Amino acid sequence: MTLKQEVERRRTFAIISHPDAGKTTLTEKLLLYGGAIREAGSVKARRAQHHAVSDWMEIEKQRGISVTSSVMQFDYDGYRINILDTPGHQDFSEDTYRTLVAADSAVMLIDGARGVEAQTIKLFQVCKRRGIPIFTFVNKMDRASKSPFDLMAELEEVLGIRSCPITWPIGTDGDFKGVYHRDIHQLEVFDGSVNDHGSTKLESIKGSVEDENLREFLGEDYHDRLVDEIELLDVAGDPFDLEKVRSGELTPLFFGSAMNNFGVESFLEKFLKMTTPPLSRHSDDGEISPYDERFSGFIFKIQANMNPAHRDRIAFMRICSGKFEKGMEVRHMRLQKNIKLTQPQQFMAQDRDVAEEAWPGDIIGLFDPGIFALGDTLLTGSERFHFEGIPVFAPEHFARVTPEDSIKRKQFVKGVTQLCLEGAIQSFKRLDIGMEEIIVGVVGALQFEVLQHRLKHEYGVDIRLNVLPYRMVRWVKGTDSLDGLNLTSSTLRAQDGDGRLVLLFENEWSVDWAVKNNEGIELTTITDRD
Ligand code: G4P
Repeated sequence: MTLKQEVERRRTFAIISHPDAGKTTLTEKLLLYGGAIREAGSVKARRAQHHAVSDWMEIEKQRGISVTSSVMQFDYDGYRINILDTPGHQDFSEDTYRTLVAADSAVMLIDGARGVEAQTIKLFQVCKRRGIPIFTFVNKMDRASKSPFDLMAELEEVLGIRSCPITWPIGTDGDFKGVYHRDIHQLEVFDGSVNDHGSTKLESIKGSVEDENLREFLGEDYHDRLVDEIELLDVAGDPFDLEKVRSGELTPLFFGSAMNNFGVESFLEKFLKMTTPPLSRHSDDGEISPYDERFSGFIFKIQANMNPAHRDRIAFMRICSGKFEKGMEVRHMRLQKNIKLTQPQQFMAQDRDVAEEAWPGDIIGLFDPGIFALGDTLLTGSERFHFEGIPVFAPEHFARVTPEDSIKRKQFVKGVTQLCLEGAIQSFKRLDIGMEEIIVGVVGALQFEVLQHRLKHEYGVDIRLNVLPYRMVRWVKGTDSLDGLNLTSSTLRAQDGDGRLVLLFENEWSVDWAVKNNEGIELTTITDRD
């Protein structure tokens, strides 16, 4: 196949949701339909197995959360699909944010009874900022749920996005009958007893809402209500507009039950048609099209210890343009040198395999002997450019970190530097004292435990961790020095690991003070790694 054909059949997306909405269940059902796994439960089983062999993931096991995020590739109906898995626990949400940079669209999964939840809001905002298409699947419709009109209003009020229902649920009080497909005028009938992972074709009845067959099947009350609701949607709802969907202004809305396989396959089919193939990517040399023959990609995630026996590290690269071939030589832009990509890994549902070739939209795992950092650009050809940076999120927890045994300082610094490159932590240095003191900032407090655990097990360093009262960091623009700033006494002047000026604050009030009393400076909560 040609580059054009390979690009056009690729779909690379992430599923975003609040924990417990059913992401694992939905992912598994998608893999089942793609033939990538044979039975449900395998994804969870794989995780359990992972725990048993993995060392620092003890933390994950103990807390029953998933720290890892990886990628699963499978084929469906001629498409080559890459699902980017993301950790559900909010303390690791930074990892999720970065993974979203590698996706071309997102499936937003919502629990029908709970509606839009905290974690969904944060993840939605990251997608929104990138302007990628967002598809909404309302899950757990087999149980009592909120009214679909209320859910639409919630999407608009809480997230600021208009929605266009593609399917519409019938019976939302625990009396779920199925969904009506507005585009094809077909009723898909729910059978709660079916849970054989999609091998049984679900019953469906064709006909417009006014159809007598439907009336007979649903009974008068349900049918009348459906007719009214569809009429209302046709008159007052947003018309389907593919352009708006693709620019992230309108979200197509689907209803179903991942657990019962209900509505999953029809969702997948429509989603694959409506969403985009790999998108162009911003670089400092303009847009890089996936159809560009030159190979290019960037590192969006680094994961340590997938194989604890070897303590290896995997850098995940998203391919942005051209063809990738095993063993190819590429330019590592940050290090300004050529490297050979000798052990590329591809991730299938349950295995990883050597990648002989790969195309834009695919994710490749590269063996990392410590040469990759988040945001690194790799490319071939004579032109040189960097992809736009991976956003760095403002940590909300800070601690002064020192090695218990000062003889181990060198190992300690090495470990901290590596964890910073992976994006697991951020380090800061205070500017008001000459002494070398490392302040570590994390987005979720649990990451402190990961830091402690990994430094001990991978670098042999026990650390002392003194939690500091700071709650916020702001990157400072508009000045070359923090000396002359008028700040509250509790504000700390510091610089981040790349030498950029920052202020650490204990509270919002101090941030306001800094803004009000220092004309011309700008404080930001997020910055790009450049
Ligand atoms: P997550 O990855 O988003 O955290 O959610 P996960 O898929 O693990 O699902 C969370 C719980 O919700 C699970 O129940 C799962 O079975 C249930 N669930 C998922 N989809 C549906 C659905 O469509 N309808 C209903 N009624 N429940 C659903 P659990 O009791 O926590 O785990 P399990 O014992 O079922 O594995």
